[in-house]
Amino acid sequence: MKTIMITGCSSGFGLETARYFLERDWRVLATMRMPREDLFPRSERLRVLQLDVTDAQSIRNAIEAAGPIDVLVNNAGFGAPAPFELMDMETVRALFDTNTFGTMALTQAVLPQMRARRSGVVVNITSSVTYKPLPLVGVYRAAKAAVNAFSESLASEVQQFGVRIHVVLPGSSGETRFRDTARAHLRGMEDEVYADFMRKTIARMSESTGAGTRMQDVAEAVWRVAADASSPLHIPAGADAVQWAAQAG
Ligand SMILES: NC(=O)c1ccc[n+]([C@@H]2O[C@H](COP(=O)([O-])OP(=O)(O)OC[C@H]3O[C@@H](n4cnc5c(N)ncnc54)[C@H](OP(=O)(O)O)[C@@H]3O)[C@@H](O)[C@H]2O)c1
Repeated sequence: MKTIMITGCSSGFGLETARYFLERDWRVLATMRMPREDLFPRSERLRVLQLDVTDAQSIRNAIEAAGPIDVLVNNAGFGAPAPFELMDMETVRALFDTNTFGTMALTQAVLPQMRARRSGVVVNITSSVTYKPLPLVGVYRAAKAAVNAFSESLASEVQQFGVRIHVVLPGSSGETRFRDTARAHLRGMEDEVYADFMRKTIARMSESTGAGTRMQDVAEAVWRVAADASSPLHIPAGADAVQWAAQAG
């Protein structure tokens, strides 16, 4: 029986992916900042572990408790839209701490065991926003694009040990808590210079969302990557993500 560890399982793509693998007889290590067993059906194959990806001790504890991991999914993340000029550096650093450095830290923590077993898969959830230079999300894009670049180089570094690295790029999803969190971090709506630009940009973005990405699209993409060793490095997940990827060439 194979084991998958997923970060950010309290909601959204992480929770859906954990449930998806649980239903398919995998052993699931569902990690989150505030552990909640009640989100899942009871199962002997499930363990809920505390894990804050920005906390080195929390990472050490979770990896130690986890044992062998076949697939790691670095999913924890958030967005904080704002005109860059109005963004405080604390938020800039927080976006990188969670979306970028958290992913790198977890990956570094599992690589030794995967290398030793000559087998393992790391799936990094980034974003299809990295395909498009949209305004207001520059720092979030940069944090996710850094993970894309990191993953591409790492893939060719660890292939020799039988370890695969993949990037799943979801499109825009209204099914998760992502938009609520982004709204809570939103800056600039009252700013005398940027308010009008903000309103127009947000209206344009909402109109162009289209069918969007379902949580299931992400769970299925991770499932395909886990099962198929010939999966491509980059996998857009969701109808909008597939379209953006095609447009980006
Ligand atoms: N929804 C979209 O439109 C979209 C599009 C492209 C990519 N993504 C990416 O998909 C991933 C999942 O997002 P989602 O849409 O499912 O949103 P979500 O429902 O808000 O889930 C985000 C998860 O990340 C967790 N998290 C945040 N900071 C963390 C930390 N320091 N340590 C551990 N966990 C942390 C949250 O936990 P708490 O409950 O503790 O906050 C939550 O479980 C993110 O990386 C996001 O950037 C989302």
